[in-house]
Amino acid sequence: MENKRPEWSSYISFIIAAVGSAVGLGNIWRFPYIMGKCGGAIFLLVYLLLIAFICVIPLSVELAVGKSYKGDPITIYDKINPKLKIFGYLCLITSILIPCFYFVVGGWILNYMWIFLVNSIPADFAQYFGTLNSNPIIPVALTLIFLLISLVFPFIGLNKGIEKANNIMMPIFVVMLIILAGYALTLPGAKEGLEFMFKPDFSKFNSEMILLALGQALFTLSIGIGIMMTYGSYLKKDVNILKSSYTLIFFDTLVAVLAGIMIFPIVFTNGIEPTAGATLVFISLPQIFLTLPFTRILAFVFFTLLFFAAVTSGISLLEASLSCYSEYFKMTRKKAAVLVFILTSAIAIPASLSFGMLSDFKILGKTFFDFLDFSTSNILMPLCTTAICIVAGWIIPHIKQEAFGINFYAKILGFLLKYILPVILLLVLILGLR
Ligand code: PHE
Repeated sequence: MENKRPEWSSYISFIIAAVGSAVGLGNIWRFPYIMGKCGGAIFLLVYLLLIAFICVIPLSVELAVGKSYKGDPITIYDKINPKLKIFGYLCLITSILIPCFYFVVGGWILNYMWIFLVNSIPADFAQYFGTLNSNPIIPVALTLIFLLISLVFPFIGLNKGIEKANNIMMPIFVVMLIILAGYALTLPGAKEGLEFMFKPDFSKFNSEMILLALGQALFTLSIGIGIMMTYGSYLKKDVNILKSSYTLIFFDTLVAVLAGIMIFPIVFTNGIEPTAGATLVFISLPQIFLTLPFTRILAFVFFTLLFFAAVTSGISLLEASLSCYSEYFKMTRKKAAVLVFILTSAIAIPASLSFGMLSDFKILGKTFFDFLDFSTSNILMPLCTTAICIVAGWIIPHIKQEAFGINFYAKILGFLLKYILPVILLLVLILGLR
């Protein structure tokens, strides 16, 4: 059974797929608006420190646990100790819930690609976005189409599906990002945008920022839902985990910074507030595109870029649950894919409708979409990350060597894993509940 598990066909394919998972809406949609809200450069600084010295730890641990124990998250926890299986189930639940709101955003992206490619372009995007979401059919249908696109590749399999898709989409994504960032730098707002990003104003520092930066770093690295465990389980023996984690972090951060370089000059050129929030990408930016030359092509390339980023992350999200169904529950890949489709649509449809028809339906005072985002990003992901850190630090301490190596730096990371990270993560969890 063990030797029938698939493996990455090369180290590079693994890195591309893992970067594909990490680089997503988190980098291009969430990172710039959180950075905008948190005062720019000072947030970037805090974020860089946290991602390089703290978040590298759970990332390496997840990869190392996957590589050593070979399996989907439930199988892995079962192998470590059957009593811990509950954490595997929590990973599964998280990987079921995240796509249900992530893919709604994927549906909006498809819609925007369509309008900039062939449709007439609306004059007022705030109004357009509202009208789109009050329509009971189009956003739902697009969410389901996005789900199908993301499901095809893990359904086909690791080498022919997931690897191929990433190997094609990621290079195109990078080229598009570089072109758009280069274009943004020629705009009049470039200097102001760059200053906002790279000239820290220390007076804007606050402790809330640390929390937001940590949450963002966990989300963007796809930590805490078992994806990196699953991707790590397809690794060959001789791979250096810590080096791979830093490679991932490097590319993920590079993309986030390039996304900022692409977005802030545009924002400053047009004098809108960089703090515009979640609607930055779907309302403010398209509105600005209207005022720039080559509107259609510029906007189409931008949304295609978002699309590639979202699909490659979507693939990894679905692979995490598919691998549980096919490995732990011993379903065929086909049955597992059908189950993923049914479950995801059943939850994603009300999530999509929560912007229109179901906007009055609230759970804990939140719309269904916001509730899914909140319960996964603020509760389930930090909880699963805390679990894997405590398990790795205290129950299977031998994993530290696989994750960090054996030098002095490894010892520091091992110490942080065992004593500091559980405290930090529990704090994130408790503060995130407010
Ligand atoms: N890392 C992805 C992003 O930045 C999102 C994601 C989260 C993907 C969790 C998989 C798991 O958009």
